[in-house]
Amino acid sequence: MKLLVILLFSGLTTGCRGNSSHSLPPKLLLVSFDGFRADYLQNYEFPHLQNFIKEGVLVEHVKNVFITKTFPNHYSIVTGLYEESHGIVANSMYDVITKKHFSDFDDKDPFWWNEAVPIWVTNQLQENRSSAAAMWPGTDVPIHNTTPSYFMNYSSSVSFEERLNNITMWLMNSNPPVTFATLYWEEPDASGHKYGPEDKENMYRVLKEVDNLIGELVHKLKVLGLWENLNVIITSDHGMTQCSKDRLINLDLCIDRSSYTLIDLTPVAAVLPKINTTEVYNRLKVCNPHMNVYLKEDIPARFHYQHNDRIQPIILVADEGWTIVLNKSLPKLGDHGYDNSLSSMHPFLAAHGPAFHKGYKHSTINSVDIYPMMCHILGLQPHPNNGTFGHTKCLLVDQWCINLPEAIGIVIGALLVLTTLTCLIIIMQNRLSVPRPFSRLQLQEDDDDPLIE
Ligand SMILES: *[C@@H]1O[C@H](CO)[C@@H](O)[C@H](O)[C@H]1NC(C)=O
Ligand SMILES: *[C@@H]1O[C@H](CO)[C@@H](O)[C@H](O)[C@H]1NC(C)=O
Ligand SMILES: *[C@@H]1O[C@H](CO)[C@@H](O)[C@H](O)[C@H]1NC(C)=O
Ligand SMILES: *[C@@H]1O[C@H](CO)[C@@H](O)[C@H](O)[C@H]1NC(C)=O
Ligand SMILES: *[C@@H]1O[C@H](CO)[C@@H](O)[C@H](O)[C@H]1NC(C)=O
Ligand SMILES: *[C@@H]1O[C@H](CO)[C@@H](O)[C@H](O)[C@H]1NC(C)=O
Ligand SMILES: *[C@@H]1O[C@H](CO)[C@@H](O)[C@H](O)[C@H]1NC(C)=O
Ligand SMILES: [Zn+2]
Repeated sequence: MKLLVILLFSGLTTGCRGNSSHSLPPKLLLVSFDGFRADYLQNYEFPHLQNFIKEGVLVEHVKNVFITKTFPNHYSIVTGLYEESHGIVANSMYDVITKKHFSDFDDKDPFWWNEAVPIWVTNQLQENRSSAAAMWPGTDVPIHNTTPSYFMNYSSSVSFEERLNNITMWLMNSNPPVTFATLYWEEPDASGHKYGPEDKENMYRVLKEVDNLIGELVHKLKVLGLWENLNVIITSDHGMTQCSKDRLINLDLCIDRSSYTLIDLTPVAAVLPKINTTEVYNRLKVCNPHMNVYLKEDIPARFHYQHNDRIQPIILVADEGWTIVLNKSLPKLGDHGYDNSLSSMHPFLAAHGPAFHKGYKHSTINSVDIYPMMCHILGLQPHPNNGTFGHTKCLLVDQWCINLPEAIGIVIGALLVLTTLTCLIIIMQNRLSVPRPFSRLQLQEDDDDPLIE
């Protein structure tokens, strides 16, 4: 009898545990195709990406952070912080206190990254979870003494296929399991710079290649049996806009090079004056009508780009499509880095997996909102950040959400029901008071029956 009970009990518990996906920790793969401007999706064909979206969600515009450059924006996606708060304020930086330099090919000093905690580090602090990275700015740096358990040193010469093979291998066969992974690819950014986004012919070819890579990614996940249970986010850091040799701003025409140090050049220049700051500012301010010049303390609040030692005393912000140079010809036909309110600077976001709705389209979120959403999916406690989880609720199956048109519809519907009910009640009351002769007369008056007249 005792044995029977034990057998029954163990059978029940194993049955309950089962192999159901609920017992597995949720997994997330975060993919970035650098420089994927949001409206490429409308202006070019992406059969593989569209299939991915059909079974998942699409956010048409992601408002990214200022300055709209690669390193700062990739770090905002994985920390939920504006640049002034995570400390990667440009691809080229200088710290006056330590006299350290940072550039996209000299980025391994953790000093630059330690002002924030990226999600792959937080994920690894959870018991029995590891992170893996097939490149992403910062993933080959020991941030807070922690790299992802599995990562690659950055090298642009490693093929997409190798990055994909290795990241899926890590997702499949690791113990403790990899629950957060990144995959980064340099296109369509590199070609966007080279040709400019208005070069339809070349961009058509490049974007077709990018779409094929997305096809390879989905195919690989399906073959390996990862497709159904893995959450996949495909997004980007920024867009791209067309530049021209007719839109150059030559600083040498305005101010002598010996009076300042240039930390970063275009389209947002970071200027460290060597002489009186006011004098440098006054000369730059009248330099060119297609460039805004700000003293650090006057940088518009909407940029959230002020409160950090790595932001220099003067910044110059070129208008869309203008290039700041030092007496040189146009360096590239496409660029980004401009004002983050320009839609040409925005990327998109698509996502697929058990955490996401199927076939849902959303107009916009902020890039800092991605971090709290990813933490929610992975069950991590987010660090303080500048994102809003509520902005992404409509994308998630486990959240209740209504968007504005729906809400208006519901309110109007409720009003209609209430009005109808009120009318019915009034009519009923009139009917109920029928026995009183007076009201009966009234009723007859109201009736359109001409015979009674
Ligand atoms: C549980 O997993 C095993 C092997 O992984 C499989 O053979 C079995 O069919 C699964 N059971 C259920 C109920 O999914
Ligand atoms: C972590 O994994 C080990 C072995 O895989 C297991 O014994 C242990 O219970 C797990 N810990 C938690 C908290 O899940
Ligand atoms: C990918 O994995 C293979 C096989 O384990 C390894 O030889 C190769 O070095 C890895 N590639 C990178 C870039 O880490
Ligand atoms: C990355 O490069 C460093 C130094 O160049 C080396 O010590 C380390 O083993 C490399 N890591 C990987 C994962 O390739
Ligand atoms: C720009 O460069 C040219 C030669 O490359 C030189 O002749 C000219 O003086 C320079 N102009 C300024 C303003 O520095
Ligand atoms: C900088 O120049 C401005 C005007 O040119 C002057 O009023 C100010 O005193 C100068 N500041 C310093 C620190 O020299
Ligand atoms: C962004 O978040 C950080 C961390 O919570 C906070 O210190 C900072 O004030 C926030 N910035 C803005 C503009 O709210
Ligand atoms: Zn980029």
